[in-house]
Amino acid sequence: MLAITSESKSTSVRRHGKSQFRYASIYVLITFVALIFLNIYCAKTSQTLFYQSKKAAMLERCQVTASEIAELEVLSHATVSEAISQMHTLKVNRLIITNQSGVAVYDSAEQNSTRGEYVLFPEIVTAASGNNVFSWNYRAGTMLSRAAVPVYAYGTMIGCVYMTEYDISQGALLQSLLQNIFSITLVLEIIVVIFSLFFALAFSKRMQKIQTSMRIIREGNYSHKVTLNGRDELTFLATEINNLTDRLQVAEAERRQFVSDASHELKTPLASIKLLSDSILQNEMDMETTREFVGDIGNEADRLNRMTQELLSLSRIDAALEQEREILNIAPTVRRVVRMLSGIAQKADITIELTLEENCPILIVEDDLYQIAFNLVENGIKYNLPGGKLTVSLHRCEDNALLQFSDTGVGIPEDAISHIFERFYRVDKARSRKTGGSGLGLAIVRSMVERNQGQIQVESTVGQGSVFTVSFPIFDTEEVSE
Ligand SMILES: Nc1ncnc2c1ncn2[C@@H]1O[C@H](COP(=O)(O)OP(=O)(O)O)[C@@H](O)[C@H]1O
Ligand SMILES: [Mg+2]
Repeated sequence: MLAITSESKSTSVRRHGKSQFRYASIYVLITFVALIFLNIYCAKTSQTLFYQSKKAAMLERCQVTASEIAELEVLSHATVSEAISQMHTLKVNRLIITNQSGVAVYDSAEQNSTRGEYVLFPEIVTAASGNNVFSWNYRAGTMLSRAAVPVYAYGTMIGCVYMTEYDISQGALLQSLLQNIFSITLVLEIIVVIFSLFFALAFSKRMQKIQTSMRIIREGNYSHKVTLNGRDELTFLATEINNLTDRLQVAEAERRQFVSDASHELKTPLASIKLLSDSILQNEMDMETTREFVGDIGNEADRLNRMTQELLSLSRIDAALEQEREILNIAPTVRRVVRMLSGIAQKADITIELTLEENCPILIVEDDLYQIAFNLVENGIKYNLPGGKLTVSLHRCEDNALLQFSDTGVGIPEDAISHIFERFYRVDKARSRKTGGSGLGLAIVRSMVERNQGQIQVESTVGQGSVFTVSFPIFDTEEVSE
């Protein structure tokens, strides 16, 4: 079973790992296309440059020859040959001079000479109509250029000059240029492929490390850390994952602690109930004692009931259920709480004194305010001494409403103060149990205060009493519900 799961997981890792290679190949493809275009562009441009310079050179040579011919009195093979032989610099493969009607009077070619014939090369036909012509053919390192111009003498056209030239040296130059560009392109593309592959592999390796770590963490090993060198986004991601697991670890420890505390706390009253009922069943006891035992069972059941209510209330706060907050004056709710608990206070011989400022509106869930005041007043009575006093005061201090519960009770030892807001924490377990406490009251109070943007503080001296101060930001508006 385990083997199957791990295999299916590793294939999923491999499948995800492909995306890097997909990006790399897209990158390679894009650079490949760009280089091809660059290649074609370079080839075209250099060919154009060669074409332009060849055209200029050929036409110039034609013009020079034409102007020589134009000076001749008679246009014949002899006169033209004479004139041509004097032009030492004229280096062409073939030179044809035609007369006005297109008949060749001179042809430098020994074989297939056109002398005395009508020459109907397209270049000559175009030149005969008065235009300069140049055509170019480049193939496999050889440039074949043809040029033709009309010859004018005293304003009239007397013939045409036609030249052809095979150029191997410049052709070879162009060829090697194109080849070099192609080689550079090829080398560049190979470098791109190698680098893309290298980066994709490196990235994929780091990514896989993170994925493997995430799997280990998902399987419940929250102490596992992702270790990644470097300073890129992946390292940042790894740090974030590590922070997350740290928090998970804390949350998991808290959860375990809570479950163990809760079950321990629930176990105690259940054990008492069991013990009491066993005693009733096993011992012959008088009615009076039986009633007492049954009364105790009832008390324990009450305690269980209270505790489950408190646990439910805590889990509701933890689930962060949004409850409607309203603008409330604090004083009426506090008075309601005190009325509710005055019976208990009387029984315990505690006097409650109220000094409440009336206009202290705050934004709060009404039930939360009631719970907060209830728990704090209840504690002020429970952890007080007979004949003691609890003063509840409310006043404005700058933008805050300060609600203070000050008792003359047993006080809280210094080392316990930092713990009293923890779940199930009680300074004196025996005393608290006797009074039906579960140690959840202050935990609930703190959560409720915080979720209503308030703060809670405590000061206490053992044997003298404690002061709990709750503050909420004042919420001043015209309309305040009572
Ligand atoms: N006003 C007080 N004076 C002295 N001790 C207090 C006071 N309020 C709370 N405590 C201590 O803090 C502990 C936690 O309080 P709380 O969370 O309300 O639990 P419970 O009242 O159920 O025991 C109490 O058990 C008690 O020891
Ligand atoms: Mg309490």
